[in-house]
Amino acid sequence: MTNMAKSLDDLIAEGVAGRRVLVRSDLNVPLDGSTVTDDGRVRASLPVLEKLARAGARVIVMAHLGRPKGTVDPKYSIKPAADRLAELSEAPVVVATDVVGEDARAKADALQDGQVLVLENVRYDPRETSKDDAEREAFARELAALTGEDGAYVDDAFGAVHRKHASVYDIAHVLPGYLGDLVKTEVDVLNKVITDPERPFVVVMGGSKVSDKLAVIENLIGKADQLLIGGGMVFTFLAAQGHAVGSSLLEQDQIETVKGYLDRAQSAGTEIVLPVDVVYASRFAEDAEHEVRPVDDIEGGTIGDSGLGLDIGPESAKIFADAISRARTVFWNGPVGVFEMAAFAGGTKAVAEALATSDAMSVIGGGDSASAVRNLGYQDSQFGHISTGGGASLEFIEGKELPGVVALGA
Ligand code: 3PG
Repeated sequence: MTNMAKSLDDLIAEGVAGRRVLVRSDLNVPLDGSTVTDDGRVRASLPVLEKLARAGARVIVMAHLGRPKGTVDPKYSIKPAADRLAELSEAPVVVATDVVGEDARAKADALQDGQVLVLENVRYDPRETSKDDAEREAFARELAALTGEDGAYVDDAFGAVHRKHASVYDIAHVLPGYLGDLVKTEVDVLNKVITDPERPFVVVMGGSKVSDKLAVIENLIGKADQLLIGGGMVFTFLAAQGHAVGSSLLEQDQIETVKGYLDRAQSAGTEIVLPVDVVYASRFAEDAEHEVRPVDDIEGGTIGDSGLGLDIGPESAKIFADAISRARTVFWNGPVGVFEMAAFAGGTKAVAEALATSDAMSVIGGGDSASAVRNLGYQDSQFGHISTGGGASLEFIEGKELPGVVALGA
């Protein structure tokens, strides 16, 4: 898939010393105030920026943070992510206070070989995400103008390749474009998982809404050997099987679709594995009263029939862990419980632990699952591949075309 596109190494071989190179990175990190709580995407973006800087390029980074919807809102400033980049980077990093304004232009002009400039949040400009092709193209031209005469564009933002945005898509039509190493690695790994997995191929899906994952589940039926379902979306599956689910998250309008999946999976050779027990809580809170109930008898306990399911139970965690330990390929997207609250982190921990101790090829896709494993104290090196893409990795697995990759002719 990435055969036709020019790579970062091609660009470096052409010569980048003294040239200004625009790089789209994904620096969309979770923040607590102005503190970066998971710097995984910053770390993942570093190698390409440093490689270019070492080759003497003057690097200009375009990135987004959150969804400021085309307005300048300090809450979404790129500064905390850029400051973290500056702390980690061997190349000197400066930060602009605007995107294509006076400050960005002056700092781009003043860049020296081997230095990195990070532009403010590209989504401060409404043209970045505009549906109007001409508006996006005009913005892409202003971004490209920051590079002067002999600029180039490198797409290294795997997390954003599914967005038809100016700094991801249109820019590749304005400047010569190259595929960054991170995007290439991500695409190669996910391609292998979906087209040629070593079997058994086990997929663990979590997260809150079934409606977000319909297409991916659909595409995995017939491809995965087992599909283990947890997270908020599991209650729609349990309801489809006729179980009571109390006040748990339930997408009533998806029950029929999910019934269709359950039927189809059976004939397609994919086993859909649902939890046999659930941790029910009296309310959505860390200190809520909670108890484990089997899925077919939620009313027998003290919480009764109005409980909220917030995690898979210990029996289910064991079943999931066993399946993972037998697998040769695992793709995991989405926590299976509310892992941020200790009482409801058991299922997600069991999945992470099984993956960390397995020698299967494992891919963790999705910002939430990646943050979950790091926040639970695991190191990235304990897993095969932690994807930087949430929506992007899902859309890849769904089989959709990714505009950022298509724009480079990959
Ligand atoms: C992500 O967080 O998945 C990427 O950075 C893309 O962000 P978006 O969903 O706001 O486009």
